[in-house]
Amino acid sequence: MTTDDDMFGGFGGRYVPETLMAALTELAEVWDHVRADPGFLAELRRHQRDFVGRPTPLYPAERLTDHHGGATIHLKREDLCHTGAHKLNNALGQVVLALRMGKRRIIAETGAGQHGVATATVCARFGLACVVYMGAEDMRRQAVNVGRMRMLGAEVRGVEAGTATLKDATSEAIRDWVTNVADTHYIIGSAVGPAPYPRMVRDLQRVIGDEARDQYLAAEGRLPDAVLASVGGGSNAIGMFTAFVPDAWVDLVGVEAAGKGLASGRHAAGAAAGTPGVLHGSRSLILQDTGGRVLPTHSVAAGLDYPGVGPEHAMLAEQGRAVYTAVEDRRALDAFRRCTALEGIIPALETAHALAYAGDLAERLGPGGRILVCFSGRGDKDLHTVAEQGRIDEEADVAEREPVANASGGAR
Ligand SMILES: Cc1ncc(COP(=O)(O)O)c(C=O)c1O
Repeated sequence: MTTDDDMFGGFGGRYVPETLMAALTELAEVWDHVRADPGFLAELRRHQRDFVGRPTPLYPAERLTDHHGGATIHLKREDLCHTGAHKLNNALGQVVLALRMGKRRIIAETGAGQHGVATATVCARFGLACVVYMGAEDMRRQAVNVGRMRMLGAEVRGVEAGTATLKDATSEAIRDWVTNVADTHYIIGSAVGPAPYPRMVRDLQRVIGDEARDQYLAAEGRLPDAVLASVGGGSNAIGMFTAFVPDAWVDLVGVEAAGKGLASGRHAAGAAAGTPGVLHGSRSLILQDTGGRVLPTHSVAAGLDYPGVGPEHAMLAEQGRAVYTAVEDRRALDAFRRCTALEGIIPALETAHALAYAGDLAERLGPGGRILVCFSGRGDKDLHTVAEQGRIDEEADVAEREPVANASGGAR
């Protein structure tokens, strides 16, 4: 059974095997109770301050602003959270909740590894057993984070199925939860999944936008014209947007991964190019073929490489309150290099998608315009991918200049 709280317009709900229904109902009840409990909230605030490092700063990106020569760009620095991304806000809240529910075993899925690292970190901090499911392809791309998780005491289980990325890791984690639900809490890493996960993750991430709105007003004396965030499942974006949804004149822009280009079919733009369907326990916008089969996705950013978005984003898109656009790999890589060189801040490749769009928008809005970007995470984990990408591009250029002999020896 679903209630109004479980739905975002026609999206959301609970499409799961029967064995999980009781656990989800219990989770929803406990969450509704603790989110209004001053004791729980005070404990959370204490950990956010002492362990996560909140509040994170609002940073005027002066050299990026000068470079684009248009609107001012401010960054909400979630990369400065302990472990390097916004993911810890959610993992921390859910693990404190799991302890209240008496669950001592934690499972999670991860794409970029940031959510896996965040979960392994809080499990180390609170002494809980931790298993993280991760696509084999993502384990290769995010080897640094695999090492961090193992060091923190988590077991990382590689998933070879499908495209061996986030979708497949999520399916495997759900399978584990179905089997071990009695003693296990599943910390979903984004604002996706069956109710109550999307609203619980939003409630835990909205600290980003609440802080940023106050900080922006204090610094600039007004609100920004546009608020931008990258969208994988949509947790940093919904965390940032929630505080601004009532400010109808502030544009909300979710930036997805256009991968090799929307026309190529090799992308991960679930909100911008998806259609309504059910994935991982909820109804939302997903990439699927006409037969309802989920399509393979691609993004250079492992954390965006997911064929759906959270149901609240599907609702905001349908209402027109937020718009969803997509940025290609190549442009995200340019933005990664530009931000690093101009600001001395290495962004996550996920964040770089939002930065690429911010640059375009700054030029379009012109001087006097104001843009706020959720700087969702740091990019140390991506140096290997960026270096490899540079090499591949160089090789491609060389190949274009010097045709090599094909198998029949025809080309010279
Ligand atoms: C740094 C960073 N930004 C953004 C994302 C995308 O996830 P979400 O849309 O849930 O914020 C990820 C996911 O791993 C991430 O690591």
